Amino acid sequence: MSKLRLAVLASGKGSNFEAILNNIKAGVLDADIGVVISNRTTAGALEIAKKNNLPAVFISTKEFPEQKDFDARLMEILDEYEVNFIVLAGYLKMIGADIIQKYRNKILNIHPALLPAFGGKGMYGHLVHEAVLNYGCRVSGVTVHLVDENYDSGLPIIQRCVSVENDDTPETLAARVLKVEHIAYTEALQLFANDKIEIRGRKILFK
Ligand code: GRF
Repeated sequence: MSKLRLAVLASGKGSNFEAILNNIKAGVLDADIGVVISNRTTAGALEIAKKNNLPAVFISTKEFPEQKDFDARLMEILDEYEVNFIVLAGYLKMIGADIIQKYRNKILNIHPALLPAFGGKGMYGHLVHEAVLNYGCRVSGVTVHLVDENYDSGLPIIQRCVSVENDDTPETLAARVLKVEHIAYTEALQLFANDKIEIRGRKILFK
């Protein structure tokens, strides 16, 4: 595969995007950022992109209320910036089937727990950490996974554990998990950048 040219899709703060960007700048990750896209005008990721003179594009759900029109606009932007890989970094909208098909095995998402536990529709942000604590888990973690047509069901590429401490709140657990997210996302991307991944059905062979 040629050098990774990433579209980063983010709805929130953008700390995962920032970590990826910093790793690219530091020469730890061999990739370029083609475009940063958000469905929220206020997304921190758009700010970070602008500060770094990277293309930052907002797609308005008001302008494109129908999912299929939103997806068509998204596809146009991906084409325009000639990206070959998509990184979902705190992106809260579903990706349309056409895009998943075109970028099959070239879309990653990060989830702040060990999938398949504590994943699926409606499991995002603090709700994940609350559920982990309410269940009484002693470990949680991070999953970087491929994106398919369903929520959080694509093949895991990297999973990392973090401990759950007795006095954890959803906030303290989220912070411990997020630190590991910032490392794991780059590690997963670097596997693709180095062409180390071969996918056979529900199995990954690390070359
Ligand atoms: C992360 O916890 C990620 O796992 C989840 O959304 C959060 C995004 O954080 N999908 P940030 O916007 O990258 O800071």
